[in-house]
Amino acid sequence: MKIPQFKPYIGAEEYKNIKECFDNNWVTEGKKSKEFVNQLNELVGVKYGVLAPNGTLSLYLGLKALGIGSGDEVIVPNFSFYASASSVIMAGAKPVFAEVDIENLQVNINQVEKKITRKTKAIMPVHVYGMSCDIEKIMQLSKKYKLKIIEDAAQGIGLKYKGKHVGSFGEIGSFSFFADKTITTAEGGYLCTDSQDIYNKLLYLRNQGRINRGSFIHPELGFNFRMNDIQSSMGLAQLKKLDFIIKAKNENYALYNQNLKQEKFKIIKPIEGSTFVPFRIAILFDDIFQKEKTEKELNLGGVETRTFFYPLDRQPQFKRKYNLFFKPKKDSVSLSLYKKGLCLPSYVGLSEKEITYICKKINESIL
Ligand SMILES: Cc1ncc(COP(=O)(O)O)c(C=O)c1O
Repeated sequence: MKIPQFKPYIGAEEYKNIKECFDNNWVTEGKKSKEFVNQLNELVGVKYGVLAPNGTLSLYLGLKALGIGSGDEVIVPNFSFYASASSVIMAGAKPVFAEVDIENLQVNINQVEKKITRKTKAIMPVHVYGMSCDIEKIMQLSKKYKLKIIEDAAQGIGLKYKGKHVGSFGEIGSFSFFADKTITTAEGGYLCTDSQDIYNKLLYLRNQGRINRGSFIHPELGFNFRMNDIQSSMGLAQLKKLDFIIKAKNENYALYNQNLKQEKFKIIKPIEGSTFVPFRIAILFDDIFQKEKTEKELNLGGVETRTFFYPLDRQPQFKRKYNLFFKPKKDSVSLSLYKKGLCLPSYVGLSEKEITYICKKINESIL
């Protein structure tokens, strides 16, 4: 058996939509992108949205639109993908890392509160692995300390907390459509907001400091952070499949739950109030030795696994360049998660036979 970590769920529908762009001879950002943004705004339940080339630049654009830059601090969970922090550095500010809860991988509210200083301008909660963080409590903190919230919902399209789509709680929500995300446009990003002022800033920032193309007068400072209609047409086909994708991923999750004995490890579950769009099936072992044994046996059996994120405060470049700021603890929750966590395949198209095979391998590997 050969089971990859991920396969995008793309096919004839995406191909047909892309072909239409060729037939109409319109490949840059145009009608399809407008339609894609409109549908995304409706799905997330926000007034305004713009596309971006990817989830990293979407975070960067969001930070810039919030006026974040030199001298500012942004609180980011220590357990997240590199881009949550690198986008803050790209914006000229300093990421400050807050620890997460070991049971659910989401940022711990008390840890966030402890990291607030006079320089803190924003919090970037991340909805990790297709599960919502406790965004309600984060919003309470933001009110108490008058901080902006930019939600990193890169892994959270279709995900809800208490019935409200993630990304719609803070000033800005940011999403990614990279190939391994719930829906994909190969590369792509989307930011949303309910603020007309932020929306206006985003329009200028992403399109060369002007609102409409075709003009050579640029009233504001801006850059090229556009997507294109080829990608958006693919996104439109993907959106039509979103409900099916979420259902199929949850069926995979149910099969894992049924077949895994969960001795010496547990499957990470969402917090109360959060739906689940399994971006990853994340399992956490009691000890490192068992995790490494299971990982090795799965890999030898043709199953591609992924480790959990490596703690941001230990990223080699951040450590080298910002050594004065970041003094990673010898042992932290995020480091423990990295050492003891393993991600299993969760893509649409994974057969029942394949999931049972993965579970059998895991159960047999338990000492
Ligand atoms: C939590 C998180 N933030 C940001 C990103 C960056 O998105 P992109 O790869 O589209 O730049 C990712 C991508 O995996 C992510 O998982």
